[in-house]
Amino acid sequence: MLPKLAFLSLVFSHLYPTVLSQSRTPTLGIADGLISLDTPSFSVQLVKDSQTLASLKPKGSAAQTNNGTFDFAPFDQLANRQFNGNYQLGDITFRARIAGSSGAFINGDTSAARRPVTAVTASGSTLAAANLSATLPATSLLNIVRRWTLQNQTLGLEFDVSNHQTQAVEIGSIGFPIVFNTIFTGRTSTDTNFNCSLIDPYIGADAGFVQVMPLLGTLPPLIITPLSKSPFEAWRFLPESTANTPFYQSQTFEGYYEWQTHTLAWAQNEWKNVTPWNVPTSEVLQPGQTRTFGLQFHLGTTIRDIDTTLANAGQPTTFGVPGYILAADQMGKLFINYSSPVQALSVSPTNALTLTRNTEGKNGFTGFTVTVPSSEQALPARVRVTITYADGKNQTVHYFVIKPATQTISDLGNFLLQNQWFVNSTDPFHRSPSIISYDRDVNAFVTNDDRAWIPGLSDEAGAGSWLAAGMKQFAQPNAAEVTKFEQFINQTLWGSVQLSNGTSVFGVRKSVYFYQPALVPGYNYDTADYNFGGSWNQNASFLLNRAYDYVHVTAAYWAMYRVARNYPALVTRPWQWYINQALQTVLFVTNSRNGVGFADDGLMGETVWRFLLDDLQREGLTTNATALQSAMQARERNWSGERFPFGSEMAWDSTGQEGVYMWAQFFNDTATRVNALNSILAYQPTIPHWGWNGNARRYWDNLYGGKLRRIERQIHHYGSGLNALPLISEFESNPTDWYLLRTGYGGLSGPLSNIDTGGFAAASFHSWPDTLKFDGYSGDYGPNFVGHTLNARTIIINHPNFGWQAFGGMVSSSTTTSATIQIQDSLRRRIFIAPFGLLLSLDAGAFSSAVVDTQAKTVSVTILPAAPGAVNAAKAPQGRLVVTKTASVAGIGNFTPMTSLNVDAGAFVVPFQSGAATVSLASA
Ligand SMILES: *[C@@H]1O[C@H](CO)[C@@H](O)[C@H](O)[C@H]1NC(C)=O
Ligand SMILES: *[C@@H]1O[C@H](CO)[C@@H](O)[C@H](O)[C@H]1NC(C)=O
Ligand SMILES: *[C@@H]1O[C@H](CO)[C@@H](O)[C@H](O)[C@H]1NC(C)=O
Ligand SMILES: *[C@@H]1O[C@H](CO)[C@@H](O)[C@H](O)[C@H]1NC(C)=O
Ligand SMILES: *[C@@H]1O[C@H](CO)[C@@H](O)[C@H](O)[C@H]1NC(C)=O
Ligand SMILES: *[C@@H]1O[C@H](CO)[C@@H](O)[C@H](O)[C@H]1NC(C)=O
Ligand SMILES: *[C@@H]1O[C@H](CO)[C@@H](O)[C@H](O)[C@H]1NC(C)=O
Repeated sequence: MLPKLAFLSLVFSHLYPTVLSQSRTPTLGIADGLISLDTPSFSVQLVKDSQTLASLKPKGSAAQTNNGTFDFAPFDQLANRQFNGNYQLGDITFRARIAGSSGAFINGDTSAARRPVTAVTASGSTLAAANLSATLPATSLLNIVRRWTLQNQTLGLEFDVSNHQTQAVEIGSIGFPIVFNTIFTGRTSTDTNFNCSLIDPYIGADAGFVQVMPLLGTLPPLIITPLSKSPFEAWRFLPESTANTPFYQSQTFEGYYEWQTHTLAWAQNEWKNVTPWNVPTSEVLQPGQTRTFGLQFHLGTTIRDIDTTLANAGQPTTFGVPGYILAADQMGKLFINYSSPVQALSVSPTNALTLTRNTEGKNGFTGFTVTVPSSEQALPARVRVTITYADGKNQTVHYFVIKPATQTISDLGNFLLQNQWFVNSTDPFHRSPSIISYDRDVNAFVTNDDRAWIPGLSDEAGAGSWLAAGMKQFAQPNAAEVTKFEQFINQTLWGSVQLSNGTSVFGVRKSVYFYQPALVPGYNYDTADYNFGGSWNQNASFLLNRAYDYVHVTAAYWAMYRVARNYPALVTRPWQWYINQALQTVLFVTNSRNGVGFADDGLMGETVWRFLLDDLQREGLTTNATALQSAMQARERNWSGERFPFGSEMAWDSTGQEGVYMWAQFFNDTATRVNALNSILAYQPTIPHWGWNGNARRYWDNLYGGKLRRIERQIHHYGSGLNALPLISEFESNPTDWYLLRTGYGGLSGPLSNIDTGGFAAASFHSWPDTLKFDGYSGDYGPNFVGHTLNARTIIINHPNFGWQAFGGMVSSSTTTSATIQIQDSLRRRIFIAPFGLLLSLDAGAFSSAVVDTQAKTVSVTILPAAPGAVNAAKAPQGRLVVTKTASVAGIGNFTPMTSLNVDAGAFVVPFQSGAATVSLASA
């Protein structure tokens, strides 16, 4: 195993600027000591001079499982962050101007030029207080007293903001930096996983919150809610110097954001070309007026129980079906639980969604049915729903509405195999024909980039486009697209990307493109647009030593095996060739003699290797299956001895957990499986906002695959689709663990949001409020779509609070013990019936509807040759149905068809009659 150390990575050392040796003057005042405060949930320490947070240790038994060392605050990095411009929890930023003037706003920022603040006597619910004037410029117009408080046994941070001018003052922006221990720099993997947390926002106005999730996934999360009317309007990145340890905005330290309550002064300036998440507001303070803003800090119990923490904090909780990414032909459900009734609803853009009250919610939940009006043409679209409660609170729920799901997949295939289809027989890098990287901003191929892999057809960001194209054929084969994809495999994948002969046959290159002008005379490298200083030459590009690259190649072959096996008329090669290519590729990378790096780490998308193993077994290719299984068992054995076997090329990552989970589950290694799952729970939240719901943490890959190269919280980068695989798998083993379903379904839906109206799919969405748009590059979208296609399904549940619901489908009628469901997910190849713990999968054909009867213990499904709405999709010659019991449920046995059907490679063969078939199954 490679050492998994969070010390500065050699491979990616160019991320770190040279450390400046200039001496800086500490201004935070640590040397003058700390103040200790005690609350029922936390032991708190403040820096005495600044009265900003130094330490926030949770109390209680759960926290002690970590030897009592765990601190939400970056206490052990405080000395490295005691300088001007280093934000602390307790700082405040604002912009203000004389009301009615159209002049510039004046900036206030308590971190910019620190001076000791003036302590104010604390009494009553106030634990410590200070006037902040000394650390603000005299011109800043506002006088601010900050108080650390204890109200209702809960720690609060409050700011009494007063106008001491003789004229009214407009507050154009106000924000509260959110600073916790997200600093991985200089830590070992164990230290990182035991002591660090990740921070995610719900930018939901008065219902907004921030969750701080300890990386172990088993410690209580910290939930921050508004106090004293401080709606969560925006989440702004806070720039800091990146020059010194712990290297702000680097691979080991993403950087901090602030909770903004007013944003008008930004919206009118830096963000003026952007549609914000919430309506930008400002507020006027009259002379002598004081207004209190604040936040409250709640120690939760478990990640799965965050909604209880929110409810106890007096906040609304939300349950969305299927989440907040909604296809135009689907019917969403929005359930809300809050003490005050819903008084009004509004939608922006107007009429982009229709919300109708339903009677499906129980136990305090109010339900709405969410539909997309047929008049809605401009899709995909971001849509904000504002819920106003009788007590005056406003909650914003953020939806992303896409075209009908099967059409979205068709659009993607069409774009990849038309617009991104690259043919140039004289290309010196042998990239023709291929599905090559694309720049949507200028609608052109990316044939040059200093990051050689992007135009070089390998690595996630160069393989991404052909990988998505291949998985699209698995999901929704199209004859013309399959032919082109076979040409790509014949002429470019096999022989150019992957060696087709010699001693390293099956080796996969890191890139087929390189920067070495002498080897490609006359080639135009576009040196005007790119700086090739650090680019790979031919030797570097042609290395065969990056295990991740092999998974993409396997996926392409496996997808074509599935097409060849189930739609044989579409292909020129036999399925045996494809499945053998897939197998040989895995056996090459896992053979230690080939020296492929990272082969012992969990690899993005390697769930496809489990599908491959399953298919080898189903085909009766026992020798081949055994070879693959042994290779996987050797890897899993390494992991089973480690507490944190989630390493990657990076110091901390969210890529290894998927593979570790899948093989730990396969080999019945419960401890490793649960450790991997808990790790995912810490970095993949469920939040009533399409961008964060199921959005696994990724923050540096714009540097490697994006057009806009920037470290930031990425929205629906491939972590979403891939980490949803373990979440849904674990849900199907525990089909009442609704948290897994919500998070997992959010993650598997994420990759649909990246596909634009023409079918182009972007690598990820930029979350900074000055950008809020998808990246221009196709980049590394491919692995996200791998996750989607291996996971998409309709999930039918009978929930104690909401009754019969379908994630990815529509319940068209129901009784307490039965339901009829229209299958509407993007693939229509899988149905999971939670009350039975039963998964129905189609190798060929498309589900249309299901009738579930829990009293009779039966399910009946209708199957069509192709999914309605899929453009030019090939029709399956016959349905092939696989029945899998994923969980034991009391009183429910194994399901078998009620009529006799032939079995072929583990699938029931379902003949179509007049273009459809119905299969009924009953529990033994
Ligand atoms: C907690 O203590 C145990 C036993 O002393 C030790 O093995 C373990 O590494 C400690 N954990 C942390 C996070 O310090
Ligand atoms: C304290 O609790 C009371 C009663 O539950 C509630 O009305 C009030 O808003 C709470 N105050 C704070 C600051 O949480
Ligand atoms: C809720 O939103 C409405 C419309 O934007 C606004 O008029 C109202 O003041 C808001 N309520 C609160 C309590 O902020
Ligand atoms: C094909 O590639 C060569 C080499 O880069 C280039 O000179 C030529 O213009 C390309 N042809 C087309 C039709 O794009
Ligand atoms: C791919 O190559 C095989 C073997 O040479 C050939 O039989 C087949 O026709 C080719 N298919 C396509 C689509 O080019
Ligand atoms: C080996 O493969 C390369 C392409 O990778 C090709 O150029 C060469 O002709 C092949 N050699 C033989 C003997 O097939
Ligand atoms: C796959 O199995 C066949 C026999 O079923 C065998 O000839 C072949 O060598 C096997 N390939 C691998 C890579 O194990």
